Amino acid sequence: MLKRGEERIEMKYNFPSSFMWGAATSAGQVEGGWDEGGRGPSIMDILGGSVDGSVHRHQTEKIMPDVYYPGHVASDFYHNFREDIALMSQMGLKSYRMSISWSRVFPKGDELVPNEEGLQFYDDVFDELLKYNIEPIVTILHYDAPLHLADEYGGWSNRKMIDFYLNYCEVLFKRYNGKVKYWITFNEINCLLVPFGVITAGAMNMSYKSDKNTEQLRVQALHHQFIASAKAVTLGHQMNKDNKIGCMIAYMCNYPLTCHPEDIRLAQKEDQIKNMLCGDVQIRGAYPAYAKRYFDEKNIKIEILPGDEDTLRNGTVDFYSMSYYMTNCIGNDKTKELTAGNLVYGMKNPYLEATEWGWQIDPVGLRWVLNHVYDRYQIPIMIVENGMGTADTVQDGRVHDDYRIDYLRQHIQQIGESIKDGVEVIAYTPWSALDLVSLSGGTMRKRYGFIYVDKDDHGNGSLNRIPKDSFYWYKKVIKTNGLDLDSIEIHK
Ligand code: BG6
Repeated sequence: MLKRGEERIEMKYNFPSSFMWGAATSAGQVEGGWDEGGRGPSIMDILGGSVDGSVHRHQTEKIMPDVYYPGHVASDFYHNFREDIALMSQMGLKSYRMSISWSRVFPKGDELVPNEEGLQFYDDVFDELLKYNIEPIVTILHYDAPLHLADEYGGWSNRKMIDFYLNYCEVLFKRYNGKVKYWITFNEINCLLVPFGVITAGAMNMSYKSDKNTEQLRVQALHHQFIASAKAVTLGHQMNKDNKIGCMIAYMCNYPLTCHPEDIRLAQKEDQIKNMLCGDVQIRGAYPAYAKRYFDEKNIKIEILPGDEDTLRNGTVDFYSMSYYMTNCIGNDKTKELTAGNLVYGMKNPYLEATEWGWQIDPVGLRWVLNHVYDRYQIPIMIVENGMGTADTVQDGRVHDDYRIDYLRQHIQQIGESIKDGVEVIAYTPWSALDLVSLSGGTMRKRYGFIYVDKDDHGNGSLNRIPKDSFYWYKKVIKTNGLDLDSIEIHK
C-alpha cells in the first residue's frame, strides 16, 4: 500500500518501439572548417574563448589575428564526420540532432543563390547518417547566422531577416526533401527574453553591446523570429506534407523558494514569460493574454504588421522540443545565495546537488516539466538537449564518466515515468554526441560528450576520439530500449 505522497517507481519503462534515442550537437560548436568549402563567417566565429576562465566569452567586432576563436576548428566534425557518424552508429543511435551552418549554405546570408559546396557537405552528412539508419533531426538556426547579416542589417531586429531566413529554409526543404523529415526552426528561441549577452547576441545575430541589447529590441527580434518560424512551418508543410517541424525552448524551470504566496506568484510569472510565452505563440498560434500586460508594464511596443496574426495562426508547429539541464529557485528574499544555470542564474535549492559548473541536477524536475508542457499543449515532445558538463580526464586510454551515467540514468528514469504519466515523449537526444566547444565559456574543458575529443581550451591536442564509459552504457540502454539502465559492456 502506498503512503500519501508516494508513487510507485518501477524502474522498468515502456519506451515506444519508435522512440528516437539519439544525441545532439550544433554546427558552430562541433564543425570547425570555418573558412573552408566557400563558407562565410558566422556570428559565432567572432566569439573568443573566455579570457579569464569565467563563463563569459568575449565578442570581437571582426576576426582579430591575435585572438583565439575556439569555434574555428571546434571538434573538426567537418573533416571527421564519417568517422564520427560511424561511432554514433556503433553506439546504436537512432537519431542525431544537429544543425546546419547558415553561412556554409549562404556565406553572407542575403544572396539568392546558395553555395553548392556547402549544400553538398550536408548531403554527405545526411547520406552517411541514413546509411546507418540514423534519423537526422535538424535545427535550421542554432545561434550562428552569417556575420554579414549582423554587420549590414543589424540582425534579427531588422524585419528583412525574415525573407533571408525563408530563402534559406526553402533551399534546405527542397534540397534535403526525403532525407530530412524532422526540422527545428530556431534553437532556444526564448533566450531572447533573457538578457544574457553573448547568447542573446547570437540569437539576434547582432552585437551584444548594451546600447543595442535592450529588451525592446530583443522582443522585436523575437517577433521577427516568430514570423520567420511560422512562415517556415507553412512552407515546409506545403513542400512536403510529411515534414514535421518543431519549436525549441530552453526550459528554465524555477521553483518558488518558499511557500509564501508572493514567491509562488513570482515563479508563475517567470514560467509564463521565460518558458511558456514562446510555446504559446508557436503552438497555440497567438500571443497569450498575460504577455500583453508584461509588455505594457515594461513599455515594450512590438511592431506587428497586418497579416502577422494570420501568419502565426497558420504556422503552428508539429512538435515541441526543449533543452533541459537543471532547475533553480526564485523568491523575493534577495539575500539568498545564487547559483549558475543554463542561460540564467537562480537561487540555490538546498535539496539538490550541482555540477562543478554550479548547474543543479534535478531529474524529477524533468518529469515535472514534461507533464506541465504536455498538459498545456498535447503535442509530441522531444528532449533535444540534456546532459552534464564536466572536466573529464583520460586515464589509461579510457574516460570513466560514471557521474554522467548517473545523471543520464536518472533523467531517463524520469522520462520513463513521464511516459507512464501519459506524456508523449518521442525523442531523447542528450547533449552531446561528442565533446564540443562550450557555448557560454568557449572552453573544451566543459565536456558533455559520449565521445571524448582530445583538444584543450587553447586549441592544442590531436583531435583523436575516445568513446567514454557512458558511450558503452548508452549503447546498452538503446539496445534494450531503456529496459537496462545499469550495465556497461566495454568493447575495446
Ligand atoms: C544550450 C545550447 O543552451 O546549452 C547549447 O543550446 C549549449 O548550444 C548547451 O552548448 C550547454 O551550454 P554550455 O554553455 O555549457 O555549452
